[in-house]
Amino acid sequence: MYNDNNFRGECMRHRYTKKNEPMKVQLKANETYRFCTCGKSDIQPLCDKYSHNGSNCAPLTFNVQRDGTYYLCGCKKSEHQPYCDGSHKKKE
Ligand code: FES
Repeated sequence: MYNDNNFRGECMRHRYTKKNEPMKVQLKANETYRFCTCGKSDIQPLCDKYSHNGSNCAPLTFNVQRDGTYYLCGCKKSEHQPYCDGSHKKKE
C-alpha cells in the first residue's frame, strides 16, 4: 500500500529525477490528479499510468481547494509531496 512508510521509503531510495526544480502547473479545484512519485513519467509532474510499473512507487492522488498556480516537486525529494518544499536545493 502506498501510504505505508516502508513502501514509500523504498520508492524514495529508488526514485528517478528528470527535473531538479519545482514544476509550475495550473490546477483546478475538485479535479483529481495523480502525482508521479517515481520520476519516470513522460508527463511530469503527473503520473502517466505505466512508467512506475516494476518499481516500488505508485502515484500520489491529490486535489486542490482552489483553481490556481501550484509548484509541484520535480526532484521527488520533497517531504511535502506533491508540493515543492525546497529540497531540490539541498545537497545530498
Ligand atoms: S509514472 Fe511515476 S508514479 Fe506513475
